[in-house]
Amino acid sequence: MTGDTQNFTHPSQTSDSQRGGEASADSAKEPESPHGAGLAPATVAVTSGRPDRVQGSPVNPPIVMSSTYVSQGVAAPGELMYTRMDTETWQPFEQAVADLEQAAVPGVVFGSGMAAIAAVFSFVPAGGKVVLPRHAYQVTLGFAQDLAERYDVRVEKVDVADTESTIAAFEGADLVLIESPTNPMLEVADLPALIDAAHSAGALVAVDNTFATPLLQRPLSMGADLVLHSATKYLAGHSDVVLGIVVSNSEHLVNTVRAYRTLHGSIAGPFEVWLALRGLRTLALRVRAAGENALELARRLEAHPKVAAVRFPGLPTDPGHERAAALMGGFGAIIGLEPVGGLEEADKVIAALNVWTPATSLGGVESTIERRRRFATESQTVPENLLRMSVGIEDVEDLWADLAGALDQL
Ligand SMILES: Cc1ncc(COP(=O)(O)O)c(C=O)c1O
Repeated sequence: MTGDTQNFTHPSQTSDSQRGGEASADSAKEPESPHGAGLAPATVAVTSGRPDRVQGSPVNPPIVMSSTYVSQGVAAPGELMYTRMDTETWQPFEQAVADLEQAAVPGVVFGSGMAAIAAVFSFVPAGGKVVLPRHAYQVTLGFAQDLAERYDVRVEKVDVADTESTIAAFEGADLVLIESPTNPMLEVADLPALIDAAHSAGALVAVDNTFATPLLQRPLSMGADLVLHSATKYLAGHSDVVLGIVVSNSEHLVNTVRAYRTLHGSIAGPFEVWLALRGLRTLALRVRAAGENALELARRLEAHPKVAAVRFPGLPTDPGHERAAALMGGFGAIIGLEPVGGLEEADKVIAALNVWTPATSLGGVESTIERRRRFATESQTVPENLLRMSVGIEDVEDLWADLAGALDQL
């Protein structure tokens, strides 16, 4: 074995005071962005993670394809040695996402969003307790179920839109993992209230910020200990890579997460991370364009006679609207659509589309649509006919014409 796992402390061996105490004290601090203090997020997305401005240096960071580095003896802190531990091609992306989330220290990139989630779940000890939304991403729920079966972890699923009953579930929790808006039901949580209450109960709080992106919601500024993303989605933005990332204000938590990555080997390829940074440069443009399209489509869908229900926090009629308007800088670009009829009618809508791509995943430049209950593992409280629509940046009239034509045939 190389010395890669030296100084490794498994998260579940971290003491309670190190976790809850230190983390919440850290996250209560006003975060100091190491880059771009005072710059608007759209500027940070473009400028962060660039090489130093030295005459003749490249404007973009290079991709370094090397599994190992020249090294002998005891490596100095920060010295690169072996690519499972760290590599310079990760660092600009880890810095840029941390800057966007206004985290005090660089993030930790992973080979997928699920790998990032696995690292976050590792803060739950065997026999511990985790609280998460009943409509969280179904594989996140599946991971928790696996912990329940193999490590006797208590899993409490809550309706995050209902603040009171969610807080009532926090007693004895080691980790509260929140999505807001949730996938796929788009419930909106009162994040500051939930984070405060979870800390009072002694739990660590992680927020999956994949749907909102750091441009619309910054959970660290609301006190969250950890923020994670499936960078596969909006951050990378082009449906061409699978990646995840965890950020935090706490150096201790970040070090623990990084040590987890080194031990588990859940690392990303340099080229994928480079592509994600390239995608990140246009995040503000994409999030704005997709959000405008989504709001327009949601309004039109609400008025369409072949639509039974539309879920979109941007609609004043949506139960999450007021909270999203108060807490978020926009409403995102995911719509939940229930056409009239049941699952057959919903499948018929998808089959008639030409511009929208039937596909899982979300957050790419292209509009995608999927009936979520096609997965037997999706929560049974998700309606069978619910179509999750990820609105892209195409011309809104083309998107509408395609969608209206597909609905009209019902
Ligand atoms: C909200 C959310 N979190 C996490 C994940 C997992 O990310 P990945 O597919 O990159 O592993 C997904 C994937 O769809 C997701 O939608």
